[in-house]
Amino acid sequence: MEKTYLMVKPDGVQRGLIGEITARFEKKGFRLVGAKLMHVPRETAEQHYGEHKERPFFGELVDFITSGPVFAMVWEGENVIATARQMMGATNPKDAAPATIRGDYAVSVGKNIIHGSDSPESAAREIGIFFKEEELTDYQKSGSEWVY
Ligand code: GTP
Ligand code: MG
Repeated sequence: MEKTYLMVKPDGVQRGLIGEITARFEKKGFRLVGAKLMHVPRETAEQHYGEHKERPFFGELVDFITSGPVFAMVWEGENVIATARQMMGATNPKDAAPATIRGDYAVSVGKNIIHGSDSPESAAREIGIFFKEEELTDYQKSGSEWVY
């Protein structure tokens, strides 16, 4: 089944939103297969955001994501990559629809609460950056027969 990498950024952790955010994905019917609270090492942040290296805000982005703990997660489910992006809302919270995470909880693009992989290739890459194989758990989730 498809997997994605989601991360509550330092602003979301500091604002006490880990529970609210994970609850949305749980209620949706997705399955949590890995999670940890961690400080992102600077080299890991630079690797994760490598595609933005030439952007003017790259330094700011790396400073921000390393500024406090993040809550790193791997979620699994049918179409989880695209659906999680929809549930997150537009990158800039001013354009994010109500009832999306960024629409409900964020105001500025630099502090937009959550990261989510944007394609199967990014998901595989990002899961590999943040998690070791043995940190991901395989289990039968109770109630999945009522989701699928
Ligand atoms: P992520 O899930 O975090 O990757 O967001 P995204 O895929 O919706 O956006 P993108 O990958 O294009 O940008 C990565 C992150 O860079 C965004 O989530 C923002 O936090 C940040 N970012 C994007 N544009 C700006 C900007 O103009 N200024 C600042 N400070 N940050 C920006
Ligand atoms: Mg992105």
